[in-house]
Amino acid sequence: MSTHPWWQTTVIYQIYPRSFQDTTGNGIGDLPGITMRMEYLADTLGIGAIWISPFYPSPMADFGYDVSDYTDINPMFGTINDFDDLVGAAHRRGLKVIIDWVPNHSSDEHPWFVESRSSRDNPKRDWYTWRDPKPDGSPPNNWLSFFGGSAWEFDEATGQYYLHSFLTKQPDLNWRNPEVQEAMFEGLQFWLDRDVDGFRIDVAHVIMKDPDLRDNPRVPDGWERKFKSHGEYDEFLHIHDKGHPDNHQLFRDFRALLDSYQPERFSVGEIHIPDWDEWAGYYGEDLDELHQPFNFSLVHSAWDVEEIASRVEAQESAIPDGAWPNYVLGNHDEKRLTERYGAAAARAAAMLLLTLRGTPTLYYGDEIAMTEADIAPEDQQDPWGRNLPGAGRDGCRTPMQWDGSEHAGFSPAATATTWLPVTDDYSQRNVATQLDDPTSMLSLYRALLAYRKGSPALQTGAYRRVEAPAGVYAYERGDSVLVALNMTGEPVAVSFPGTVALSTQGDGATTKLLRPNEGLIIEL
Ligand code: NOJ
Repeated sequence: MSTHPWWQTTVIYQIYPRSFQDTTGNGIGDLPGITMRMEYLADTLGIGAIWISPFYPSPMADFGYDVSDYTDINPMFGTINDFDDLVGAAHRRGLKVIIDWVPNHSSDEHPWFVESRSSRDNPKRDWYTWRDPKPDGSPPNNWLSFFGGSAWEFDEATGQYYLHSFLTKQPDLNWRNPEVQEAMFEGLQFWLDRDVDGFRIDVAHVIMKDPDLRDNPRVPDGWERKFKSHGEYDEFLHIHDKGHPDNHQLFRDFRALLDSYQPERFSVGEIHIPDWDEWAGYYGEDLDELHQPFNFSLVHSAWDVEEIASRVEAQESAIPDGAWPNYVLGNHDEKRLTERYGAAAARAAAMLLLTLRGTPTLYYGDEIAMTEADIAPEDQQDPWGRNLPGAGRDGCRTPMQWDGSEHAGFSPAATATTWLPVTDDYSQRNVATQLDDPTSMLSLYRALLAYRKGSPALQTGAYRRVEAPAGVYAYERGDSVLVALNMTGEPVAVSFPGTVALSTQGDGATTKLLRPNEGLIIEL
């Protein structure tokens, strides 16, 4: 029996609930839809945990990342009974349930903020960050919103600005007020008591800011951006509006709360910090903070052997002793994997994600190689896409393609329209068609997931890069498995020992030739 906790050996599957399965016919996915697809998740696909993006009451300015009640379900997604049913159905099949927690900001329609903005002396005024204008009436400092424009919004009625690191409809909670921590932790307990297995923490590193609210400096000449473009936001070094060391005490408190529950609960933080050591700090000096900060480095990498290998090895050496690595290749904020790496690379990318050492998170639809949808600017739903042309995230959030019927089986046939259009290729690219095809992407994911489940080496074996010809990334896991990925569009002659257990091409492969874009799992 493995002595590793469940969250180290599992594979997490991210569900964007609006887009997974609609059971009511309103064109929006819901919780009963997830329950309906539990057999697919647990048995057909064979993942071990689901992470569900926010389903809380919300005006949906940022599609649920603007929460107006932390302890209920948005009627659009169902009821609290539906949630309990979902957790019960998942647990009966051995699946863990991780939910999204959005602590940095609430909705401006949350009763806490409604009270806070009602007057300067309201007891909840200090639950958010309010400041006077500068003498010329301008905002208190130069901080910018991630989604564009100033991070400060002026409130005419009370004559002060409030801080919003994201949309104006997402005011930042003031975690320096102990009442905020207490109220937010009560919210966590509500879900822990309903048996959730863990939390994905939204923008975890943004919560604590410089208490003096100092201006961010401009980037120096020659500074190189590490993430995708964010327009004017990229002109500043974000050293004061996020990433304050006080985050660490907060996460120690958070971890102590999680650790007071049995069986073991899990946490993974959304942390975008390019400096590996600072990033790894979120595991905690004594591994007493987050179980994992999400590792997005491969999302920002080119499909290139040296670049990918260097990022894998950077994580391997940055994490503290005893900490567990993780990998992400896509999510609801990034362009589809097929768009970033190219469709030809998608099979080897699947093998990469599911054979590296660490907990993989797989984004819904990647298992059938869903493509990035081209949503016209005037049809953009995502507020970011409307603020900053090209930044829209709708393209990776289109409805799951289940079959070739109307609305791809995502919504009942009678549904007038779905919240985002189903991608055009759905009649060929869908779960039903791919299940019948042993060479499909879905068949490859199923084979990889099944192989990983039965392979202690892939689950927990050490990672060691091995020599390979140019264009080939090869590594051993433990002492019994070798993975070789041809990251070029050309065949490459190789000479690996062992026998092929699995090829991304799903047919008779050899250890002597890697076909274009082929990946192999080889047993030594
Ligand atoms: C990160 C989430 O992943 C993203 O979808 C959201 O817009 C921002 N945080 C703000 O909550």
